[in-house]
Amino acid sequence: MVKEDIYILGIESSCDDTSAAVLRNGVILSNVTASQEVHKAYGGVVPELASRAHQQNVVPVVDQALKRAGITKEQLSAIAFTRGPGLMGSLLVGVNFAKGFARSLNIPMIEVNHLQGHVMAHFIKESDDDNHMPPFPFICLLVSGGNSQIVKVNAYNDMEVLGQTIDDAAGEAIDKCSKVMGLGYPGGPIIDRLARQGNPLAYKFAEPNVAGFDYSFSGLKTSFLYNMRKWVQEDPDFIEHHKEDIAASLEHAIVDILMKKLRLAVKETGIKHVAVAGGVSANNGLRNAFHDHAERYGWTIYIPKFSYTTDNAAMIASVGNFKYQDKDFTKMDIPVFSKVTFE
Ligand code: KG4
Repeated sequence: MVKEDIYILGIESSCDDTSAAVLRNGVILSNVTASQEVHKAYGGVVPELASRAHQQNVVPVVDQALKRAGITKEQLSAIAFTRGPGLMGSLLVGVNFAKGFARSLNIPMIEVNHLQGHVMAHFIKESDDDNHMPPFPFICLLVSGGNSQIVKVNAYNDMEVLGQTIDDAAGEAIDKCSKVMGLGYPGGPIIDRLARQGNPLAYKFAEPNVAGFDYSFSGLKTSFLYNMRKWVQEDPDFIEHHKEDIAASLEHAIVDILMKKLRLAVKETGIKHVAVAGGVSANNGLRNAFHDHAERYGWTIYIPKFSYTTDNAAMIASVGNFKYQDKDFTKMDIPVFSKVTFE
């Protein structure tokens, strides 16, 4: 008997990106994302504006994803959607769209944990014979605007959080420090660009002292703010004149904190297959540190394509593809959840 193709539509709307993607048997056919420019003026995501923009974007984005995939909606096997964590109003737009669309097509819905999605971005295939994915178990450093975690991934649906931030996430700290410097939002890509031309050892900031595999970034953020205030008082043009060195030093400090605990986790678990995921995994300093560790410590590393680092629906469809095969479907009366959790 010929096996039927599985077409999964993924929908992601947890924060400020409206995204839809189609996978055929785990192979990417399309991944369309509408980012919301409206938040730039506010230096951060405004929840009410985010949900309004999702409402405007969701239908055209899904339409584009189907068109680029070259399929009709009737060919879809299931709809996978982000249930949480995220902003309540933003999530509701994606979930309610998924409910209506699934019901009208009479196909199953599949709920996906956003964090699980980031990790499972490593299982999106570029072609039928693409076999680049990490073997289970592997260690994944999950670093985004809302999370910084070290996760032991035993299976697609069995993830153990070994350590996580006790205060700010790495991305959040970068964004806040970049705001102090008067740079735009989100700060991550700007800091990344500036850091490439600066000296990473020019300035030092407070280092956290947290037990186990946990992270902390609030002390670094505060010491960054106090230092900047002091230096600007001495020289009002200090930031403008030294922005490359400041960015490089900040990036260096954050990457250093992230890698220190990751090394510890690899050592204690003995698992040398190490992946990175989430928005901050786009960072060049962090990517270089991964390559350096692969060489120095014999790690096998897994670094996602840039388009799968920040929020995207392909990673949601990737989890959906696994759950579909296990017939792990979701009931129509499912609520969203905004809190950070691995179920
Ligand atoms: O995963 P993501 O898109 O959204 C969340 O689920 O949080 O991550 C967004 C975060 C932001 O803090 C952003 O500044 C950071 O990822 N980011 C970066 C880079 N690109 C995005 N941080 C450092 N370097 C980058 N190139």
